[in-house]
Amino acid sequence: MTHPNSPAAPILSQDELKTLVGQAALQYVVSGDIVGVGTGSTVNKFIDALATIKDQIKGAVSSSEASTLRLKALGIPVFDSNEVPQLSVYIDGADEIDGHGHMVKGGGAALTREKIVAAQSIRFVCIADESKLVDKLGKFPLPVEVIPMAAQRIMAQFAAMGGQASIRLKDGQPLITDNGQIILDVLGLQIEDPLAFETQVSQWPGVVTVGVFAHQKAQVCLLGTATGVKTLMF
Ligand code: A5P
Repeated sequence: MTHPNSPAAPILSQDELKTLVGQAALQYVVSGDIVGVGTGSTVNKFIDALATIKDQIKGAVSSSEASTLRLKALGIPVFDSNEVPQLSVYIDGADEIDGHGHMVKGGGAALTREKIVAAQSIRFVCIADESKLVDKLGKFPLPVEVIPMAAQRIMAQFAAMGGQASIRLKDGQPLITDNGQIILDVLGLQIEDPLAFETQVSQWPGVVTVGVFAHQKAQVCLLGTATGVKTLMF
């Protein structure tokens, strides 16, 4: 119990929570290994922390051009995914994570490469602040990377499910991903069964990657909370 006269615990900003979980993820990095690295503002904190132990690792496999730039700028070698058959750990953020380790990802448009690197990794460690923990996936607009010529048809398929899809824009133009494709953001979906949903949408012609990560779920989540880093195991 806190003593009535003891100073109240400082309230950490979202940025500070991201720094905390980014640093906490270092404990999952295997010495002498190549690390799978995700994308986003939380992962940027992890990359900064990783740079402090860069002499203890061989390097990284990166999930985006943005993370590659940051890794290289900090002197961490980046390997092509094809050069590394298996990674012991993949560290990445999420836009939503549920109590089973299922996630929605792709807010940073890097979902395809993220899923590829997650699939080649034995363990997915998700790092997130507690605002990302949800009972059910679907409130965050679901990112889906698609081939442009299939966009209208896929938007109609989401509409038939009760979702409203729109093409993600950047500077008034469709955002183009690292893979040369576009992103749909879908509002209003009820994702009751993330595994079945991911399987279904992944089969639609023209879908490159759906941002539900249920087949590539997290095994661990380091959650930044007001009282420190909480570890969830799935
Ligand atoms: C990138 O495409 C996403 O999957 C990110 O992992 C996700 O958006 C989390 O990003 P932040 O750490 O910036 O919230």
